[in-house]
Amino acid sequence: MTPRAADRARYDRATAALDAPLALVDLEAFDANADDLVRRAAGKPVRVASKSVRCRALLERVLGREGFAGVMSFTLAESLWLARAGFEDVLLAYPSADRAGFAELARDPKLAAAVTVMVDDVAQLDLIDAARAGGAEAVRVCLEMDTALSLLGGRVRVGARRSPLRSPAQLAELARSVVRRPGFRLVGLMAYEGHVAGVGDAVAGRPLRSRAVRAMQAAARRELAGRRAAVVGAVRAVAPELEFVNGGGTGSVQHTAAEAAVTEVAAGSGLFVPRLFDDYTSFTGRPAALFAQPVVRRPGVGVVTVLGGGYPASGAAGRDRLPVPYLPEGLRYDPREGPGEVQTPLLGSPADDLRIGDKVWFRHAKAGELCERFESLCLVVGDRVVDTLPTYRGEGRTFL
Ligand SMILES: Cc1ncc(COP(=O)(O)O)c(C=O)c1O
Repeated sequence: MTPRAADRARYDRATAALDAPLALVDLEAFDANADDLVRRAAGKPVRVASKSVRCRALLERVLGREGFAGVMSFTLAESLWLARAGFEDVLLAYPSADRAGFAELARDPKLAAAVTVMVDDVAQLDLIDAARAGGAEAVRVCLEMDTALSLLGGRVRVGARRSPLRSPAQLAELARSVVRRPGFRLVGLMAYEGHVAGVGDAVAGRPLRSRAVRAMQAAARRELAGRRAAVVGAVRAVAPELEFVNGGGTGSVQHTAAEAAVTEVAAGSGLFVPRLFDDYTSFTGRPAALFAQPVVRRPGVGVVTVLGGGYPASGAAGRDRLPVPYLPEGLRYDPREGPGEVQTPLLGSPADDLRIGDKVWFRHAKAGELCERFESLCLVVGDRVVDTLPTYRGEGRTFL
């Protein structure tokens, strides 16, 4: 039996009494992935990216482990919800225009002490001030810098369009605006190199592309290390009490952590290890999150149809955003149909061994988005379900 076939047998046994659709987390794989992130961070704390988990109990589990500290959240409403639930260090990694949320933040000392918000523009400070409605608590602020690699005199740009601030002088200027302004505390700097941390550099069957990605990423890392250190120096000169410098993501943990200017790294996807995180030379994780759809009919030889499964991931639309049929090994989509809203035909010889009611196991392309489709995650150890945890959705929370 191959290791994958053995996993299938375990997952089928563990969930034999449960009907699909359902989602599971293989706890041993999840914990092994968490250990690997900590090992790669080499002593610097790992801040867990909540959008890549979207399950409060799993965030708590990770934060209970040595080597993890703090949450990186994705909306202000989520950040306040987590802080109210007792999470003490929540860095909101994206700017917000949630006026009601800012009003709540600025009038509650517990929330204001726990949550740090992201800023890359004075207009965002203005919005917070207009929203605070008399709330006098100091709002903790983190500045975000642009990490993109700029080539050919700025004509080619590699990297996500996030912060407009690139140079030490630009970041220092915004830092001065924050420290001069009553009601704000500058506590952090963040620089997320998504073009290094979130782009696979060893894509199966694409050797030329993979080589080009590796060359690009090596150049990007070199350029960013120098600029990040200069920016941190310039911002610390304005705000010597800066508490943290956050960088990186699952694909770049060891490289980002190696920069002296960085005090902590962020990572989340490396816990579930979805399909898009298979193609990296920097690490090999274990697929820890799967979902099952039931076989509901058999249209002919070499084909079965499962219920649902059309859960594409966000990002530029393409085949790489689709979930992949994972177990049993050897099933593929009908190219004319793909994974469907309600029905998904699957082709391949393993189809002939599947009966009505059997489970087909899939991996999502991305990590946390899976939890927008399921209300709970079955925690599997060996061939037993040891617990069932609500996802954010299961707690009635959909933040985006
Ligand atoms: C600011 C920031 N840091 C880190 C990450 C890395 O998260 P992950 O490890 O889940 O890829 C992301 C993901 O998009 C991000 O936006």
